[in-house]
Amino acid sequence: MNLKNKAAIVTGASDGLGKQVTFKLAKEGVSLALIARDEGRLNEVKLEAEKLGSPKVEVYPCDISDSKKVEDVVRQIEVDFNEVQILLNIAGIWQKLNLLEDISIEEIDQVVDIDLKAMMYMTHFVLPILKRQKEALIINDSSKSGVTAQPGQSIYTAAKWGVRGFTDVLKEDLKNTTVRVAGLYQGGTNTEMFNKSGEHFDQSKFINPEDLADVILFMLSRPSKIWLHDVRVEY
Ligand SMILES: NC(=O)c1ccc[n+]([C@@H]2O[C@H](COP(=O)([O-])OP(=O)(O)OC[C@H]3O[C@@H](n4cnc5c(N)ncnc54)[C@H](OP(=O)(O)O)[C@@H]3O)[C@@H](O)[C@H]2O)c1
Repeated sequence: MNLKNKAAIVTGASDGLGKQVTFKLAKEGVSLALIARDEGRLNEVKLEAEKLGSPKVEVYPCDISDSKKVEDVVRQIEVDFNEVQILLNIAGIWQKLNLLEDISIEEIDQVVDIDLKAMMYMTHFVLPILKRQKEALIINDSSKSGVTAQPGQSIYTAAKWGVRGFTDVLKEDLKNTTVRVAGLYQGGTNTEMFNKSGEHFDQSKFINPEDLADVILFMLSRPSKIWLHDVRVEY
């Protein structure tokens, strides 16, 4: 897609990969609807994205695990932007490594709600807008944990395998439309995601989120006859 003058919705835009990809899109002249919970951080990202060249940046502070709030936010984005061609479902949280019986019900609900159900809500409400575009792209951020089974990650892995299944079925359902969908399956990335959950790894070898944002930019900017459906990135 030729990105100039297109509009994108980015979830998880306040930090990590979502923030870095927002900056890359801003440099390409993409208008941006930025979603995350932390309004202060979103506004900092907005300022930087405007400086980098985005013609229009709006922030929508929202907990996307609340379907009603997602519906309201998407309605507002439609009023503000009218047309949107790109949806990047990037928001997510980590589940601290643990045996299942030691993971609280609260954490189970939170991880599934944010890492899986929120993506379904967002895509459900945005799809009608995307379907009326000449060309539209969705990237769903899963994880290496969406294609592997590693100890201590039962809930995170279940959510991320869910994202993979969701993405693969959407691909089939959207076959005869102008919307294309891809899954991104990256290994450990050097963001604050783990620290936020109280997990601490040596992240020195992890993928640089800026480099990963370049991968997303590459996926989005392919000529319209080419689409990378599954992209796996390792460090
Ligand atoms: N880091 C890794 O090693 C790694 C590896 C594989 C896959 N991933 C996946 O990559 C994606 C991005 O993660 P990251 O590493 O960039 O983490 P991050 O730096 O912690 O960023 C996560 C983003 O998601 C947003 N978010 C979390 N919960 C939300 C909610 N309920 N509603 C709205 N926004 C929410 C956060 O914003 P607020 O806190 O402001 O809401 C933040 O902007 C996630 O889906 C993650 O599972 C990460």
